[in-house]
Amino acid sequence: MKFATAAGRNPVDRLRVVGKPLARIDGPLKVSGTAPYAYERHDVVPNQVYGYVLGATIAKGRIKRIDTIAAKSAPGVVAVITTLEYAPAAIPDRQAAHLFGGGEVAHYHQAIALVVAETFETARAAAHLIRVEYKAAPGRYDLAAEAPDAPLIPDPNEGEDASPIARIGDFDAVYAAAPVKLDETYMTPDQSHAMMEPHSSIAAWKDGKLTVWTSSQMINWAKAGLSKILDLPEEDVRVNSLFIGGGFGGKLYLRADALLAALGARATGRPVKVTLARPLIINNGTHRAATIQRVRLGASRDGRLTAIAHESVSGNLPGGRPEAASSQSRLFYAAGSREVSMRLAALDLPEANDMRAPGEAPGLMALEIAMDEMAEKLGLDPVEFRILNDTQVDPADPERRFSERHLVECLRTGVERFDWSRRSSSPGSVRDGKWLSGMGMAAGFRANKLMPSKARVRLGRDGVVSVETDMTDIGTGSYTIIAQTVAEMIGVAIASVHVALGDSTYPQSAGSGGQWGANNATAGVYAACMKLRKAVSARLGFNADDTEFVDGNVVSGNRSVPLIDATKEGPLTEEDGIEYGDLEKKYVQGTFAAHFAEAAVNGFTGEVRIRRMLAVIDSGRVLNPMTARSQVVGAMTMGVGAALMEMLAVDKRYGRFINHDLGFYEVPVHADIPHQEVIFLDYPDAESSPMKAKGIGEIGLCGAGAAIANAIYNATGVRVRDYPLTLDKFL
Ligand code: MOS
Repeated sequence: MKFATAAGRNPVDRLRVVGKPLARIDGPLKVSGTAPYAYERHDVVPNQVYGYVLGATIAKGRIKRIDTIAAKSAPGVVAVITTLEYAPAAIPDRQAAHLFGGGEVAHYHQAIALVVAETFETARAAAHLIRVEYKAAPGRYDLAAEAPDAPLIPDPNEGEDASPIARIGDFDAVYAAAPVKLDETYMTPDQSHAMMEPHSSIAAWKDGKLTVWTSSQMINWAKAGLSKILDLPEEDVRVNSLFIGGGFGGKLYLRADALLAALGARATGRPVKVTLARPLIINNGTHRAATIQRVRLGASRDGRLTAIAHESVSGNLPGGRPEAASSQSRLFYAAGSREVSMRLAALDLPEANDMRAPGEAPGLMALEIAMDEMAEKLGLDPVEFRILNDTQVDPADPERRFSERHLVECLRTGVERFDWSRRSSSPGSVRDGKWLSGMGMAAGFRANKLMPSKARVRLGRDGVVSVETDMTDIGTGSYTIIAQTVAEMIGVAIASVHVALGDSTYPQSAGSGGQWGANNATAGVYAACMKLRKAVSARLGFNADDTEFVDGNVVSGNRSVPLIDATKEGPLTEEDGIEYGDLEKKYVQGTFAAHFAEAAVNGFTGEVRIRRMLAVIDSGRVLNPMTARSQVVGAMTMGVGAALMEMLAVDKRYGRFINHDLGFYEVPVHADIPHQEVIFLDYPDAESSPMKAKGIGEIGLCGAGAAIANAIYNATGVRVRDYPLTLDKFL
């Protein structure tokens, strides 16, 4: 189905099932421990052996020799394979690091060997018997040192051919003439996805064909990556991810667990399961890159922005992409002149790649704190300053408007619901015993991306409607909202819908990434259901255009027939998908947030306590307020992490992240989060898809950390521009 616009009504608009807070249909499996995760698929693959991955202990250089004699003769060991026996693997699309093969080491903990044994413990013990001789080479590990020479690079959201500096007007002249100016530099650290389920895979070969049970957000990307590296036709690779214990972008890409399980299984002739041990994940996998961002703002005295410049520099392995931290500044606020750019330094740290709200998450830690600083210079309330500079069109192309943009309503709703008028505009002026207390806010913006997505639906003789799509559920609720979509479209109860996800034998979906999953995957299911409605109508002698599917009946005019009658001649199966063409060029599609936070800072120690948080979200139609709220609450919590604690510490001598486990990579826990509230404006967006929904998985993070940082400034009067805001920075 080619989508143009959903102006007008369609079957989903009845909102009998869609839009309702249905509890997760996979909930009972999850809480009873019976939802099968990749590493647990004993049910489908007998006779498994365990693989243990050994990572390089230098960050750059060459492997001279790997001595595996002792490991190979250790009890229980089935096989040992080393990187020296393989040619360097091709690199999958959108990735930068070689996953295995060859003697060159490009980053610390790059996989260099796999030990396969009868148990995990014997594999691990034998791995420690492997002796490796390296010839280490000097590497580049310090972003600040490399930044001055880093070349400009086009915004990856705009494509490789885009101009590396997005310009409107004459920034230099307008900025120079602006009566009120700000010029500040902000730093965000490297961060880790720190998902609960480690990267894990089981691989099995049969007749030259490979099946991998793995933990992947994007089934098709994993399949394409394996096919490219192993030089297999895509149809000979099957990927399955039924349940995924979190991803946050870390599982968008093929990792060493899947590849080494496949190589280990080929070498041993037995199914091999590989999990990346927690201390290996952080330096073996991907992370969000640190950024250094310079923001310049110029405004008239009455608070209208006239000039915006946002430059960001980040680092990556050669061939990698930048953290697109300045991207949103092309579109977020009105201003007649601007310069937005990014630069990419070559670093020899582990691969930087997407992490939840890539670009916006660190970008808004600069822009939205700069906006707070500028509001203060102007003597304006920070909410009013943002309202004054709202835009309904792309500032670079006023003909191109936002499909729906209700940021101003988000802000005004937040002001009322958060009791914003209680905020003191003098920083450091509110004391509560030993605590200094303050309130802050920030706005959030994240693109709504349109991705093609396909599904297959089948109406069985038992009245059950089954849907198959290779969409994934990374803990987000995909199973549930897809069931709701089918129930709405075909007019059956949720109990009569069966949802099958996460298998590459199903039609290709949008997958879970870039907060595009919910809207696009359900839109693909919508398209398949429309086709099934036609087929049912044809069998029953109805005209599909004026037929309703309600309560298990097919109704037109005063004629009503049980749906199941359509299966008298056998079940019906239909497949279709959603395609958008160049719709994204026609409208700017965004999701918006207003974040509010109240924080207290201990006047003696600098410890921070969050008191309460509120997010007001404009993200199109809310498909399920319960799962949507969970997405936003989780993202706000990640915002607390970004503001207060999350940071991979770079060891600039040895080129690695030192705090490579969950003991020392700190994330917020329940005790850090006393109170969170989420309000959805729930404006359907007719240009986003027939579902009229938009992204929900990332917008809750965009601006959340900045709101906390701004609250801390309001509490203390100390402005820190180097994140996270650990207590040492207030001394
Ligand atoms: Mo997201 S970083 O695209 O999983």
